[in-house]
Amino acid sequence: MDIGVAREMIQDIKADAVVVNLFEGKEPDGATGAMDKALSGMISVLIGAGDVKGKLNEITVLYPCGAVLGGRVIVVGLGKAAEFTLDRARQAAGVAAKRARELGCKSIATIVFGAGAGGVVPQAAAQATVEGMLLGLYEFRVHKSAPAERGAVESITLVEADLAKAAAVEAGAHTGRILAEATNLARDLVNQPSNHMTPHILADAARAVASQNGLSCQVLSLEQMAELGMGALMGVTKGSDEPPQFIVLEHKADAGQPVVFVGKGITFDSGGISIKPSDHMEEMKGDMAGAAAVVGAMQAVAQLGLPMHVIGLAPACENLPSGHAYKPGDVLKAMNGKTIEVISTDAEGRLILADALCYAARFSPAAVIDLATLTGACVIALGDMVAAGVFSNDDDLSAKLREAGATAGEKLWPLPLYEEYKDKIKSEVADMKNTGGRQGGVGASAIFLREFTSYPWAHLDIAPMGLSDSAGPYTPKGGTGFGVRALVEFLRARIPG
Ligand code: BES
Ligand code: MN
Ligand code: ZN
Repeated sequence: MDIGVAREMIQDIKADAVVVNLFEGKEPDGATGAMDKALSGMISVLIGAGDVKGKLNEITVLYPCGAVLGGRVIVVGLGKAAEFTLDRARQAAGVAAKRARELGCKSIATIVFGAGAGGVVPQAAAQATVEGMLLGLYEFRVHKSAPAERGAVESITLVEADLAKAAAVEAGAHTGRILAEATNLARDLVNQPSNHMTPHILADAARAVASQNGLSCQVLSLEQMAELGMGALMGVTKGSDEPPQFIVLEHKADAGQPVVFVGKGITFDSGGISIKPSDHMEEMKGDMAGAAAVVGAMQAVAQLGLPMHVIGLAPACENLPSGHAYKPGDVLKAMNGKTIEVISTDAEGRLILADALCYAARFSPAAVIDLATLTGACVIALGDMVAAGVFSNDDDLSAKLREAGATAGEKLWPLPLYEEYKDKIKSEVADMKNTGGRQGGVGASAIFLREFTSYPWAHLDIAPMGLSDSAGPYTPKGGTGFGVRALVEFLRARIPG
C-alpha cells in the first residue's frame, strides 16, 4: 500500500475516490465546503433535501461528471461535532475505505478527519485517518482459493492544502501506518487456525518480525523451561505433541529498566481433560491473541524507534487432552516455587502466565503488563466486543493504561483485585488452586496471577475482545489485534517531553 500526503486543494486531486466528511447538522465547510462549491452545491442540495445528514458513518457516493478530477466523491458522516472523538475519525475512515474498495477503486484520496472543525491536532487526526482505512481494509484470505471479486486498494493519499500542517500530517500518517500494520499482523496470527499456527510457527513468526525490524529474539525450549523450573507451563503442555515455545523479544534503545509485555499464547485451547463443549470450540484458535498483540506491539515499537527498553514475552503451547495430559487434582510447581492444585485443566492460561510473570522478574522491570484471553467470566461482566478488563497493583499504571486505551480506541475498564478473591483459591493440598468456582471467576483469575508478580503490574483480560463475530467499522469478523495500539500508545506517552 502506497501512503502519501498531497499539498493540494481537494477539488484538484485525481483519484478513483475522493473522500470528504460532514458533521451532522453543519453546513459543509473547509475542504468539504470547497468540494461542495466545485460540485455546484450538490452536497448542500442533498443536505437541504434531507438525503444526507452527516450521521456517524453515513456514506453517500457522488459522481462529479467532470466537475472535479476525482472519479467519485465519497461523503462520510462524522456525527455531531460536539461528540467527535479520534475513534469516530477511525470509524468513518474505515467505512469510507471499505466502500471505495467495494466500488473497485484502486486509489483513494481523503481529507484528514477531524483536523478542521473536529478540533483535533493534525498529527493525531492524520494518524487516526490512516489507521481507520488500513484497519478497515484488512482481510484474511490466506486459505481462500479464489481471489477477491474486487481488487485491492493500492494507494491512500491524505490531502492537506495548508502547508503549515503538512509536516504534522506526514508524521501522523507514518505512525498510523505502523500501528495499523502491527495490528493487522496480530490479526493474521489470530486468524490462522491452530494447524497453521502451532507454538513453533508462532515462534517462527516472532523470529521473522525480529529479524526484519532489528529486535533481538530468543526462544526457550522445553529443556530450558525445565531448567528454569517452569512447572506450571510444563503441566499445561504435557497433553500436546507440539513442543512448547517461550518467546522473548527485546527492543533495547536505552539501558533503563524495561517495560515488559507478556501475552498468553495458547495456540489451541480444547480445555484439556476438563474438555470444553464442542459448540464454538473452533474459536479457541484465538486463545493466543495476547501473544499476537505482544508480537504486533514489539514490531511497532521497533518501527517507531521508541527511545526505551521494551521486552515482549509470549509463552506458547497447546492445551489438549491425551494419555499424557495433566489432570484435575495434579499439583504443579511454578518457577517461583509456589505450588498449584489443578482443579480445571481449562484454567490453563493463568498457569502458563504464572511462569512467564516469574520469568519477567529477571529484567527488574519498571512495569509488567500481561494480556490474555483469560476468562469467559470477563466476557459476561463487560460484554462481547465492548471493553477489556484491567486489573493492577498500581493505580497510576492502571490509569495510564486506561488513558492509552481511550486514545487508541481500545477500551479498558478497571476491575478490582480484592483480597477476598484469595479465599476462593485456597487449596487443601497446595499453596493455591487454579480456579475459584463460577462466581467472581474473573477476580479469582487475577488474584491468582498476582501471586507470581513482584513489580508494578497490570493484567488485561482481553477475552471479550480477541475475536469478533461481526464486523465493525474498522474491525473485521475474526481476530481484532486488540491491545497492540493501546500498548504502543502507553509507551509513547512515557516518552519525556
Ligand atoms: N481461553 C479461555 C477463556 C475464553 C473464553 C477466551 C471465551 C475467549 C472467549 C480460558 O482458558 C478458559 O477456558 N477459562 C475458563 C476458566 C474456568 C475453567 C475457571 C472459563 O472462563 O470458563
Ligand atoms: Mn481454557
Ligand atoms: Zn484458554
